[in-house]
Amino acid sequence: MSNNLLTVAYIVASALFILSLGGLSDQETARKGNIYGIIGMVIAFVATALSLDLTTYGTLASVVIPGAIIGAIAASRVAMTSMPEMVAMLHSFVGIAAVLVGIANYLQQSPLTGIESTIHQIEIFVGVFIGAVTFTGSVIAFGKLRGIISSKPILLPGRHFLNLSMIAASVWLGSQFLAAENLSGLQPLLIMSAIASVLGIHLVMAIGGADMPVVISMLNSYSGWAAAAAGFMLSNDLLIVTGALVGSSGAILSYIMCKAMNRSFISVILGGFGAETNGAKVAESTEQPGGEVTATTIEDTVELLQGAKSVVIVPGYGMAVARAQHAVSELAKLLRDRGVQVRFGIHPVAGRMPGHMNVLLAEANVPYDIVLEMDEINEDFSKTDVVLVIGANDTVNPSALENPNSPIAGMPVMEVWKAGTVVVMKRSMASGYAGVENPLFYKSNTRMLFGDAKKNLDAIVAKVAHLSEESVDLRQPTKVAFST
Ligand code: TAP
Repeated sequence: MSNNLLTVAYIVASALFILSLGGLSDQETARKGNIYGIIGMVIAFVATALSLDLTTYGTLASVVIPGAIIGAIAASRVAMTSMPEMVAMLHSFVGIAAVLVGIANYLQQSPLTGIESTIHQIEIFVGVFIGAVTFTGSVIAFGKLRGIISSKPILLPGRHFLNLSMIAASVWLGSQFLAAENLSGLQPLLIMSAIASVLGIHLVMAIGGADMPVVISMLNSYSGWAAAAAGFMLSNDLLIVTGALVGSSGAILSYIMCKAMNRSFISVILGGFGAETNGAKVAESTEQPGGEVTATTIEDTVELLQGAKSVVIVPGYGMAVARAQHAVSELAKLLRDRGVQVRFGIHPVAGRMPGHMNVLLAEANVPYDIVLEMDEINEDFSKTDVVLVIGANDTVNPSALENPNSPIAGMPVMEVWKAGTVVVMKRSMASGYAGVENPLFYKSNTRMLFGDAKKNLDAIVAKVAHLSEESVDLRQPTKVAFST
């Protein structure tokens, strides 16, 4: 393929990636967005494979074919609840790829001279630095999400000083790298890679469980910049554009999530967040909610729903674990058929990744127009008869607003307790992802419906369906028999 045709293919692929991002910003166009992305990627891949630069198809096939098979199997097997771990793992691949491309690029000895050579060296050094931070940071994020590593923040004394020292050492090594001749810069490059790897570990280890979503999205952004840096090293325009798209969209998403969680963007980038809130250490936040817990039954819940005019369903991670989305959708449909106003309220970080709940509800064919964001529904709780909280915990925790010492203090939450009655479906009194006690369970208008969400919802659906059939029967005209 000629270079001109390659450029055209890259421009088309870039445009498709931009259309893809645009499509993914709305549930109704998300499928289309995905298709644009897939077509863009196929064009990008085929054009690169057919480009004049590539001659060794055997090597390409030996890495692409096993990679594609492993990727396809892993993606098809992954459970929705494990998707964030998979995303973290994929980010780590981008990071390590940037490191390896950088080192290989350096060893290839570029023919460039003067200022062009210096710029190329800087591209390599910066690319390897971002790649190494992304690689180890993502591995730690994977471990935290998997539960292999504790989600508690690990705070070393003087950690900001440590981070700064590592960055300063990397800058100094960078100057050594630029001054080195004939591959002798390999030593500072490798030492910097080791330091950046430690920095990646340290930054993510210092972040508390509740802030992991922002970290995942930040690492997404880093992986984009690492890819863009690899694009500069390889002089591949498409990789630069794609990397910049991922890097900037990841950064914007992180900013939106920080706002949704009332976190400072800068603090998250610097690490160590989720550890201190309003100057109070989390460890000192030992206040336990008190009061009585009122357990309820399927029958009482059905009765409550029967008398309700408006119902809001607030799903959380537990709905994903229980795979209860289809039962939830069925219940919503039955209640709407009975004339009840049913809406869904979604917290921006409900579940384990951005959009987790929206994807599950879309899969279960819940109409998009009844699925509302937290900001759209929060004011309506006081006018709602019944709220069904299904496997959500941190995202409905009033201590975020009421207890300044809470690790989630300041995070906007779904203010479900303002509704007439709140039914919380979960298996036990256990805390959620952030490990924080939830005073909602002790409120006088809260009813706890203990047990697996799917089992309980199936039972509720069966009873509501039965009620609906009965009321349909009652509406049938009674046949009167006349005897002649
Ligand atoms: P969580 O606070 O994690 O609470 C989920 C609740 O579901 C648990 O308390 C659990 O209680 C219950 N549960 C688990 N399995 C269940 C089952 N089979 N049936 C019924 N209930 C079940 O969930 P959330 O409210 O969605 O909050 C999300 C949390 O995850 C936030 O802290 C957020 O920061 C964090 N996080 C979010 C993301 C993103 S981007 N969304 C990424 C990583 C982390 P029982 O054990 O008692 O059943």
